[in-house]
Amino acid sequence: MTSPIVLGVESSCDETGFGLVSNGRLLGQGIASSAQQHAEFGGVVPEIAARAHLDAVVPTLENSLAASDVELEDITHVAVTSGPGLATAVHVGLAAAKAIAWALDKPLYGVHHLAGHAAADLLDHGPLPDKGIVLIVSGGHTSLLEVHDLVEDDIVHLGDTLDDAAGEAFDKVARLLGLGYPGGPVISAAAVDGNPSAFRFPRAMLRPGDDPYAFSFSGLKTAVARTVEKLERDGDPVPVADIAASFEQAVVDVLVAKALRACRDKGMQTLTIVGGVAANKRLRTHAQEACDAAGIQLRVPSIDLCTDNGAMIAAVGDMLVRAGKEPSGLAISADPSAVL
Ligand code: KG4
Ligand code: ZN
Repeated sequence: MTSPIVLGVESSCDETGFGLVSNGRLLGQGIASSAQQHAEFGGVVPEIAARAHLDAVVPTLENSLAASDVELEDITHVAVTSGPGLATAVHVGLAAAKAIAWALDKPLYGVHHLAGHAAADLLDHGPLPDKGIVLIVSGGHTSLLEVHDLVEDDIVHLGDTLDDAAGEAFDKVARLLGLGYPGGPVISAAAVDGNPSAFRFPRAMLRPGDDPYAFSFSGLKTAVARTVEKLERDGDPVPVADIAASFEQAVVDVLVAKALRACRDKGMQTLTIVGGVAANKRLRTHAQEACDAAGIQLRVPSIDLCTDNGAMIAAVGDMLVRAGKEPSGLAISADPSAVL
């Protein structure tokens, strides 16, 4: 068989992504984001996201083809996020992928969004390890996965957040500090000159007896809110840099502790961190230090592959094709609350 050229389509949140992958190699991708349209609301508004996807599908597909130097007719297979995600948003990508697969008469594969995140790093750093722990930290997810074989669906979902996702906590804290949206980059920028030990914010779910792989960030957000309220009530200045750095440190401490614990408990030698929050410098630095000390290999892809994108969906599709897996077919429906 000639090499497959797999088109991946992603639309589960606020990024419209198309990516082309062949034999584990990224040919190119196109991404559009409606993040700025959600800024005034401090979080993603599903209806706005869906409309933005509809506007973005054709130009973003064209951008991905141009970036890859691939003609539409060269595509051999189509892969698309079928869930989980915002229902109205997933539907737009699914409809686009069905239309492309039908028009080209090519097989269509439904891909679980988290499997896509777990696969993304292979496009930067080569084949996935035989087994490993994957930490997905974004605006929508905080998930710890024990991944053995993505193609065979041999993935153990170790834990999730019980309330806010890590990125969502960044977004909410940025909002209450008046820093804007999305929160991650602005909090990081504000935290550069801050003292991460200035405030001792809570590190949730780290006590003996707590679920070792579950996360909770809503208490942390509330603790920051209470701190700001008290300072304002007392007429004291709000030390934004110190609060941002202390908040960031609390999130990083929990993420690194739990990810390393999973590696240790499950006897895994590789930790992969993906999702928008993986862009965080403090997280990258602390995870690297902890992995070095524990003799664990850390894999973190480039930012474009950390955040939602079509290339990661194409990467899974490409693996399914090469493993000879049956396509899902055009009758596939969205599964907004799909679990692994
Ligand atoms: O993966 P992503 O682009 O979209 C999904 O939510 O699926 O992640 C977006 C999230 C936002 O909550 C944003 O605040 C966070 O990632 N983020 C960061 C950083 N850059 C983006 N969080 C912490 N530090 C950053 N540098
Ligand atoms: Zn995602």
